This record gives sequence, structure tokens and C-alpha cells, in this order.
Amino acid sequence: MENKHIILIGFMGAGKTTIGRRLSYLAKKPFLDMDQYIEKQEGREIKEIFATEGECVFRAIETKSLEKIKLERAKYVISTGGGMPIQEKNQKLLKEMGTIIYLRIQAETVCERIKQDSKRPLLQVENPRQKIAEMLKVRNPIYEELADYIIDVDQKQFKDILQEIKVILDKDGGEN
Ligand code: S3P
Repeated sequence: MENKHIILIGFMGAGKTTIGRRLSYLAKKPFLDMDQYIEKQEGREIKEIFATEGECVFRAIETKSLEKIKLERAKYVISTGGGMPIQEKNQKLLKEMGTIIYLRIQAETVCERIKQDSKRPLLQVENPRQKIAEMLKVRNPIYEELADYIIDVDQKQFKDILQEIKVILDKDGGEN
């Protein structure tokens, strides 16, 4: 486990950042949240990048950031943005970088969690419920295909999810 990143993937609202932060203590690796990393590097918020330059530019920044992190010697617990695993070149990079854990969430749970959210540009639409369902339908098979491990997060407490991840990592560490 020492020489690999631990990478959390999954849809918006799955808890990647919260779980990643806590997991970094457990796994004794520094925490890196991709969205926060990008905001820091770019000096502006994600929603601003979307608004001024569009999604394509944001996706290019995502890939560039991933390539940069891959070159670092440090190994992190990384929480990715929900769209990061969708591009093929990112899939390849993520695979090479470490153990990928998919935090799988149902559309209904996402709706509940992001009700008041204004930070996620892709969900600022008239019918977020429908948009979430459509996006999840496309993305879920991609996340599943990419993942080394899958954890269902609906109706679970963070501490239980962490415990599941710990079991996975102990096993993963033993095999590598
Ligand atoms: C996105 C998810 C966001 C952020 C951007 C695009 C997506 O990250 O990267 O708004 O395409 O699903 P979170 O999954 O952390 O919300």
C-alpha cells in the first residue's frame, strides 16, 4: 500500500471528500482533493472556470493536474471530481496511480444530499433529479469498470464506510 495512491471515485455527493479526509488519517497518507487542488492552482472556483471557459477547459485542467500529481513522489489519498474518471486518458492515469475505490450512490440519495447546493455547475438545471439520473446511468458502468473495489454508501454512516475501506486496504496491502 505504501507506494500507491488510494483513489476515491464516484458521483457528486457520494462523500469522496469527507471520507477521503478521514481515510488519510487511517491510511497515514496526506489528503489531496482534486477540486480543491485545481481551485488553488487556478486561483478561482470550479464554478467560475465552468462559467467563464466552459466544461472542456475544466476537463483539460483536470487531466493536466492528474499528470502533475502522478509525477510527485508523495502518495496521497485522492478524492477525485465526479467527472474525472469519464475521460479515457484519465482512466489510464488513475489505473496506473493506485488502488481505486468507487463510492457508489443511488440517484435518490444524491438528490437528498445536494438539495441546497449551488457549487456544482452541472446540477444548476431546471430538473436536477432528472439530470442526476441521466448522468448516473452513463457514468455508473464507467465507475464500476474502473474500480478495484466498490462500496455502496447509501444509508451508511461515514464511520461504517471507513471501516469497510479499512478491511479492503488491509487485504489489498497483503496482496501487494
Ligand atoms: C463534477 C464534479 C465536481 C466538480 C465539477 C464537475 C462532475 O466534483 O469536479 O463540478 O462532472 O461530476 P465533486 O464530485 O467533488 O462534486
